[in-house]
Order: sequence, then structure tokens, then C-alpha cells
Amino acid sequence: MCGIMAYIGKKQAYPILLNGLKKLEYRGYDSSGVAIMNGSLSLLKKEGKVQALETFAETRKTEGNIGIGHTRWATHGIPSDINAHPHQSQSERLTIVHNGIIENHEPLKEMLIKHGYKFQSSTDTEVLVQLIEWYQKRYNLTTIVAFSRALQDVEGSFAVVLFDVYDPTKLFAARRQSPMVLGIGEKECMISSDAMPLAPYVDQVVYVEDDVIIETDDTGEYKFFDLNLTQIDQPISDIKNASIAYDMGEFESFMLKEVHEQTEAAHRLITSGIDINIGKNIDRIIITACGTSWHSGLIAEYMIEKFARINVEVEYASEFRYRDPVLSSRDLVLGISQSGETADTIAALQMAKNAGCKTMAIVNTANSTIARMVDQVSLLNAGPEIGVASTKAFTNQLVTFCLLIINLLEDSNIDLAYDLKSELQKLPSLISRTLKANENIVDIAAYISQYKSAIFLGRGTMYPVALEGALKLKEISYIHAEGYPAGEMKHGPIALVDNKMPIIGICNEDKHLSKTISNIQEMKARNGIIILLKSEGIHIPKELADFVIETPRCHEFIAPIIQNIPLQLLAYHTATTLELDVDKPRNLAKSVTVE
Ligand code: M6R
Repeated sequence: MCGIMAYIGKKQAYPILLNGLKKLEYRGYDSSGVAIMNGSLSLLKKEGKVQALETFAETRKTEGNIGIGHTRWATHGIPSDINAHPHQSQSERLTIVHNGIIENHEPLKEMLIKHGYKFQSSTDTEVLVQLIEWYQKRYNLTTIVAFSRALQDVEGSFAVVLFDVYDPTKLFAARRQSPMVLGIGEKECMISSDAMPLAPYVDQVVYVEDDVIIETDDTGEYKFFDLNLTQIDQPISDIKNASIAYDMGEFESFMLKEVHEQTEAAHRLITSGIDINIGKNIDRIIITACGTSWHSGLIAEYMIEKFARINVEVEYASEFRYRDPVLSSRDLVLGISQSGETADTIAALQMAKNAGCKTMAIVNTANSTIARMVDQVSLLNAGPEIGVASTKAFTNQLVTFCLLIINLLEDSNIDLAYDLKSELQKLPSLISRTLKANENIVDIAAYISQYKSAIFLGRGTMYPVALEGALKLKEISYIHAEGYPAGEMKHGPIALVDNKMPIIGICNEDKHLSKTISNIQEMKARNGIIILLKSEGIHIPKELADFVIETPRCHEFIAPIIQNIPLQLLAYHTATTLELDVDKPRNLAKSVTVE
């Protein structure tokens, strides 16, 4: 949440900041701003997407070779010009951008108010910049010393970049539990929330560690310090030739492009395989994740238990981290995350590490915090996912689990491993066929777009697929949607069903089929509008469904991946019918770096 981009060197900062902020918009897009130094400070902030800032800046001064920029996802204070970053200290000497949450901002603010500080915004960030200035003035400290003292006082998470007009050839930055990457260029440095915006400009980066302060200057020099200002080293990574794709190509949105990339992404992962090992002394696997990644974990629970017979539990990271679970060194805690930066998943894995568990992660983003903190990591290799709605990452999370199950079976049941492997080989072409068929989804989506709610139903692995279908629909179309195990409907939710309730029933050729059909018939008997998603070859009573979406017949091992794809398209076309921004739905951000 929130994206930071900063530049210091000899070039014009503004175009680099703007370019970077556009690429970081996936992290938050309710307002944005820049501060650029050129003799005097030019501070430009605007509510809305980065485009609004760009338009606003057209008639303002943007020259200068040092600048800091920010795109915001509001935590404290509504989205507005005033709450947009950068924020300044009372004397306007210091300017700051921040990603994260200063949890103890209230007592700090009270202390500062007692000392005569006045606040313009409702943000926790303004408290931090005022606190730095308070230290500077009260103890007559240099910027970096005041900065380090203030950081020692704050609780919570932060990635901050600080500029001092009295020290106008330098930038200071620091991070704790919020991502920050330093880009090292030729006589220039850049700081960003991820490496993607830096890739066009630099070959080398530093993935800055927690509680590290950076000091850079306009000759491209940089130094790292711990919070006591002892100089330290940080490992440098090469990103030369990193192909970090950032365009929509022929598609009208990143989401649609990413949905269509699934054939290739799955093929790539199946071909490359995975390089992780559950190990011998493991009694259970605890999967922890959030949102869509949690849904893939739930499918994995069904699949690993069925095929590999290992005990699996699935935990929402936000609950697991706080509920004091019973853990041991015989537990493998497996985090799933597209971004690798989700705050709750990081904290859940950290708790597991502290409890002596083995840790593993499945992530899309190499060098992300989660990728670096666990004992073993498996990369999704899905390519950058920019649309807020997770699509191809989900598919490759499930492919990873398929590969993991096959690996596990190779030791215990080679025949089954062989059979499942050959089913998995068919997946890319089946994804391609699924994407090509189903032109009727556009019409069904237009129909759904008239309603206020929808219910998704399934049994077995089709239940988490139902949860995922409902999440996709609600997050991009803003239509209320719930996923349920089909057998649970008569325990309460069936009271909601009438002739204004679309029911998306998901079935597959497996042992649950007849039960699911019966449950859908019960919805039809209550006048529900039935949209049946089924694989080819399943015969259903003629009068059962108002609409039918068909997918190619496939083995149950890969069915969750195939059945999910029409639901991605259903959500997509519903949102576009409603003329909504599918890549940047309201209130959301791609990378949820606050809890
Ligand atoms: O990056 P992560 O996979 O850890 O993100 C977890 C969720 O925030 C994410 O899956 C979210 O639910 C998506 N917007 C769903 O499309």
C-alpha cells in the first residue's frame, strides 16, 4: 500500500518520478504527489489517480534534480489533496513520503501539540515528519541523527524518504516492514517501493533490510546505517536485463491481459518445475495467506490431503498471527503470496519461525520480503501481475501445488504420480480452449450486472473456486457476492434466494456432482436465477439452468484451475458492463503492506 519513488542525481527528477509513480499505482491510487528541489521546493499534490497529478503539474514548476514522490492508499485520513503525500514539518524545512502505519502516532501527536506543533492533515505521516523536526530543533541535531532518533520512537511499519531544504544535496530514507529498494545508477540514486520502476534506469539495486537508514547525495554516493548510525553494508543485487514488462499490449486492461497470459504462465511453470522439498520430519503443513492466495491454499488442502495424504490446515494470516496456535518443529508453515509483501502473511511466517517451525513460501515476486525470510521458496514465474484482481498468480499457485503433489507421490506412489503428471501436461491447452470458448459469458455478465447480489456454490474443490469467483466479482464489480459450500445453503443462506438472486453453481465430474446438482435444484425451486458452470459432458435436467457456461472436460486434479477461468471472465465482463476500472477498483491496492 502506497508507492514511493525518489530520485537524486543530475537528471530532471520529475519525469522519472512520474514514470515511477504510474508503475507503482497498483499499490494505491487515491491521491499522489511530488516534491522537487530546485533552489526552492515545489510541492504538488492531488487527490485521485496519478493522471490527476500529471494534469495539475502541467502548469506548475517541476524542474529540479532531486525529488520525492508518492501514490497513496489512505489509512489515516480520507483521500484528499491535504492528506496526500509529501508532508512537511511545521517550518517546512523537512519533507517526507511514507508507506506504512505509525501505530503510536496519537501519543506522539499529543506530545508535539503540547510543544506548539500544529497539524494540517489527518495522517500519521505528518506526525513523523514533525517529530523529526522536533528532535532537530530541541537537541540541535543533524538531519540524520534526528531522523534516527525519531525512527527509534515510532512503532509500526514504515518506508520513508526524507528531504531537508537545509541539506539540499541529500536524501535520507529508511524502512521497517515496508518494502524499499535503492537503485544504484551512474552518479545517481533512486528509491522505490519495488524494483520494477527502477529497471529502466539502473542495473543494480539493494533490497534494503529492516531498520536500515540510507543517506544518498547528488553525486550518486550512498551509505547505509543501522538505527544507532553505525555504518553497515547491504547486499547489492543485479537487475541488469531484467525484463519487467509493463504494458497492456493489445488488451484494454492489465487484468484481461493477465487472464490471457495464463496459458503461457502455466506452461512455463510446468516446464520449469519446482525446487522445493517438504522434507521427512513433517507431521502437518499449515498454509497461511490472504484473499485469493488463501483460496488457493484451501484448494491445496483438499488436493494434498486427497492425493498425498498429508495433514493440511489453512489459516487466514491475519487470524493465525494473533491466535496463539500450538506449533512445533514438525510443522511446515507455508505462506502463499503473489506480492510477497502482504503484511499479515509476513507476520504469520515470522511467528512460525519464532516458534521453531520450518517455513516455505510460494510467491510471484523474487526478492520480496517473504521470499527472503523463509527456509525455502518457490517462485510462481507468472510474470508481473499489475491488475489488482489476482488471476494468473492464482492459477500458478495451483500449478505449484499440483507439481508439489506429484513430487511427493514420486516417493510413495509412482503410478499415480505418472498419471497426474500427464493430466497436468494437458493444462495449458485446456486453459487456452477455456479462454476461447464461452462467448456467452459477456451476455451472462450483462445480465448479472443488473442485480445487487450473487451467490456462488460448489462442493469439494469447487467450494474454494466458488469463494474465489465471489471475491473476483465483488472486488471489481462492487456487486455483493458470497461463496458457499453448496451443502450449507439450507442452513441459513437459502433464505436469501428469490427471483432476484443469481446463483452461480459450479460443478465438475467428481464424486460431488449429483449432490451439487441437487443443491442447485433446491435453489431453482426457490426461483433463483441459475447460472450453471459445468464441464462438457455433464448432463443436467433441461429446466435446471437459466444459463450454462461450459468448460472442457478435465481430470479433477486440474479442474479447479479450469473452472476458475470463466469466473474471472464473468467478473471482468460484469465490471466492464458497469464501466468500472477493473485494474484499479475502488478502495483496494495490489500490495497490502499494512495489517
Ligand atoms: O500478494 P498477496 O497474494 O499476498 O495478496 C493477498 C490478497 O491481498 C490478494 O489476493 C487479494 O485478495 C486480491 N486483490 C484478490 O484478487
